[in-house]
Amino acid sequence: MAVSDRAPVLTIDGPSGAGKGAVSARLAQRLGWNVLDSGAVYRAVALAALDRGIDVDVDREALVELARGLPLAFRAGSDGIEVELDGCLAGDRLRSEAVSVMASRVAVLPEVRAALLDLQRGCRKPPGLIADGRDMGTIVFPDAELKVFLQASVEERAKRRYKQLKSKGENVILSRLFQDMQARDRRDRERAVAPTVPAFDAVVVDSTRLPLDGVVQRIIDLASCRFDI
Ligand code: DC
Repeated sequence: MAVSDRAPVLTIDGPSGAGKGAVSARLAQRLGWNVLDSGAVYRAVALAALDRGIDVDVDREALVELARGLPLAFRAGSDGIEVELDGCLAGDRLRSEAVSVMASRVAVLPEVRAALLDLQRGCRKPPGLIADGRDMGTIVFPDAELKVFLQASVEERAKRRYKQLKSKGENVILSRLFQDMQARDRRDRERAVAPTVPAFDAVVVDSTRLPLDGVVQRIIDLASCRFDI
């Protein structure tokens, strides 16, 4: 298929807590496009590895094999996109701190990232795809028609995550979350493979003081210059 015949892609990259998930879901709804939550893909590998007792430091081969044949499906549920792992809804387990930490460790392994490329690229289907992640514009879809890098201050992102976890009944401490987020940011930004940095041709949008609607509208404005929407 010629490049011009392929479904268009809008990538939304950035650190965790910048609002990529909410923004991507809204954009997908407004445009009627498909959505890829690539963070959920890494989280699913982490959760499946934890469930199977795979030691990331010892059993790389088992981890890569798991990533290659990941029993993962995205379904449209009443509450947005739901993730099914091993045939069961992953639900809140996917967002727990234990899985977040494990996902960040799994995501630094180049063999695992390579094993997940086909699964992610397979999501590029008509009428278009909103791809949410860290390396969507740099590695997975370097030819995306529009690339956005969404950022927000670490204080603001830690506060958002705190509220989110509290509302789910998790016992968390804000200062601890702030430190964890700083450490995770650094790991994601400075890692050798697929670091969380804007693509050279990405538009940087800061959501620290911009409400969700404002961010969505700004991206729709950018999209309307590039896509036939
Ligand atoms: O966005 P998130 O918090 O759900 O991502 C979970 C982890 O996966 C996080 O450590 C970053 C990593 N990740 C990645 O390396 N590449 C992506 N495209 C998406 C997420």
